[in-house]
Amino acid sequence: MSTSSPEPVTRRDILTLAWKSLLALSGVIGLGWLWRFLSYQPNPAPTTLFDLGPASGLPTDKIITVPDAEAVLLPTEQGLKAFSLVCPHLGCELEAKEDGFVCPCHGSEFELDGRLRKGPADSSMTPLNLEISDQGHYILDSGSAQ
Ligand code: FES
Repeated sequence: MSTSSPEPVTRRDILTLAWKSLLALSGVIGLGWLWRFLSYQPNPAPTTLFDLGPASGLPTDKIITVPDAEAVLLPTEQGLKAFSLVCPHLGCELEAKEDGFVCPCHGSEFELDGRLRKGPADSSMTPLNLEISDQGHYILDSGSAQ
């Protein structure tokens, strides 16, 4: 019967164990980052549909601005029409005045019905889709600008 004593743990053994542990840990962290990278989901596009509430609740004889949609509802003989408040020239936000809309960037002006009055813009305000849903609500699509 032989009695063998365990081999003594050397400094080299401890350093090897520490080194391998560090490698394993960095591998786990690296895999975690790789998993995050591969499973990245970009934010969904913001909604362009705005429920403006019951159609019977909106006045049809006043200009109604919808700031969240950067849009305005204008009264016409056919009812409300929606237009984008984004200037067709270079995209600044139009300001509503008593007699129309003015672009603060380069001075384009638009009539109260959205028609171009003065450039440098070369087109009228952009019309947007405005529909009445099955529930009787006005639904504005601010992404419908062409
Ligand atoms: Fe409106 Fe230029 S951005 S006139």
